[in-house]
Amino acid sequence: MVRSTALVAAAASVLAVQADSLYSKNSAVLQITGVDYDRVIGKSNYTSIVEFYAPWCGHCKNLKPSFEKAAKSLAGIAKVAAVNCDDEMNKPFCGQMGVQGFPTLKIVKPGKKPGKTIVEDYQGPREAKAIIDAVKDKIPNKVKTLRDSTLDAWLKENNETAKAILFSEKGLVSATLKTLAIDFSDVIPVAQIRNKEKAAMETFGVEQVPTLILLPGGTKDAITYEGEMKKEAMVDFLSQAAPPNPDSPPPKAKKSKAKKDEKKEAKSSSKFSKASASHKSEEASSAATSAKSETVEEPIAATESPDPNVKDDEAAEPIIIPAEEAKPTIPLLSESAELQAQCLTDKSTTCILAILPSDASSEAATTVVASLASIHRKHDARKSHLFPFIGVPASNTLTASILAELGLGDADDVHLVATNGKRGWYRKYSGEGFGSVEVEKWVDAIRMGEGKKERLPDTLVTPSEEPVKEKPVEQEPIQIEIEEIEDEPVEQKKHDEL
Ligand SMILES: *[C@@H]1O[C@H](CO)[C@@H](O)[C@H](O)[C@H]1NC(C)=O
Ligand SMILES: *[C@@H]1O[C@H](CO)[C@@H](O)[C@H](O)[C@H]1NC(C)=O
Repeated sequence: MVRSTALVAAAASVLAVQADSLYSKNSAVLQITGVDYDRVIGKSNYTSIVEFYAPWCGHCKNLKPSFEKAAKSLAGIAKVAAVNCDDEMNKPFCGQMGVQGFPTLKIVKPGKKPGKTIVEDYQGPREAKAIIDAVKDKIPNKVKTLRDSTLDAWLKENNETAKAILFSEKGLVSATLKTLAIDFSDVIPVAQIRNKEKAAMETFGVEQVPTLILLPGGTKDAITYEGEMKKEAMVDFLSQAAPPNPDSPPPKAKKSKAKKDEKKEAKSSSKFSKASASHKSEEASSAATSAKSETVEEPIAATESPDPNVKDDEAAEPIIIPAEEAKPTIPLLSESAELQAQCLTDKSTTCILAILPSDASSEAATTVVASLASIHRKHDARKSHLFPFIGVPASNTLTASILAELGLGDADDVHLVATNGKRGWYRKYSGEGFGSVEVEKWVDAIRMGEGKKERLPDTLVTPSEEPVKEKPVEQEPIQIEIEEIEDEPVEQKKHDEL
């Protein structure tokens, strides 16, 4: 990649560090890419929590043990995934997802329409228990809660197909049962009945709770489940009536032991639904999972192979656009020193700063980032140089003084401003909204040296400390070219005005 100025190169170094993964291959955390996301998370019937991280980020490293713990605990109930936003191939996707800092945690749950997801930022404590609870809370409940008075009507609906009932002491439906109902959604309706519903208990001769029964359908007798109340075994039990729905877990989800079966696995639908919901050790659950795979693979492959791809195409438009159409992001500088060094020294050439409000997921903030990213990408594709576009989060300690010194106004709004420390000017964007067309007009005006410039207050500009480092030899010629092509007209006007 040709980086045209020392400044851009410096900006790039913030995000383009080695793309080493934070999680090991054997981690319980699914490591996905922007390409996998749609298939593994976006089209899944399960709820997921996705961490967007950079390996160098300290808070990400701090989160790692809790996130691993959450992944183990939620095995078989929800997906716990991580995206390395430092990896070049993931950057456009992370930008598309509106990631503005690391780590960003998003809970993704299936929407009402197939293929549509509801994505929410997780803002709670970065502790395993809080994460687990928040995710469980978002699992859709397809379990019908029945009483004596409603049992008969439910039994009569589709009376030829299989049904399952959990008799429980509790009124609340557990995450395990909710997930079981998702595994068998549209295949085996799942209900829960409290043990105080005496008539129902008697009808099925249930004497203790919890008890799971399977009604195979038609006139066949109810079968009582004898095993432990663990998800994997319960899935097996219900599978005798009908196989669970397919799921497409990523190849890396399995332990290395089973790696040679990766291809097979990718096709296997049942891995996720078979995974244990219990807190037992990773080894045990891994062993159990692989032990199962032989027996369950066949029937599942049979039901799965004809449809998943067709379904994917037919599904309503997902929230995530394909990776190749995804918009790239722009570098975000949350450290005041970095911002100062890149854009606000007496050697700094033009920078476009998007000053973001504390609600970085606001529509204006995501729009401006997307617009700038797409404009930059256009120029990159044409190999034409463009000054750096930089996102400045509210958390950057320079943000307040920039807003105040440049008289930009409310910190709750997005502000777009061009600065040139070397020439000592800045320009505000005052267009209608932050759509890419509008913003691009403004950017083009800056490139052409048009528009109103104001004097950049000296208080914002520091002397450049390491001019040598900022101008590596090989970048010298490019630097000159930029000055001539793009900054020259601006320069002229500036002298007229100031
Ligand atoms: C199922 O419903 C149909 C129609 O209501 C009825 O004729 C049939 O007997 C029912 N079967 C069972 C097993 O209850
Ligand atoms: C999701 O659930 C639907 C039924 O609600 C089912 O048809 C589908 O196969 C399931 N799995 C996937 C991956 O969509």
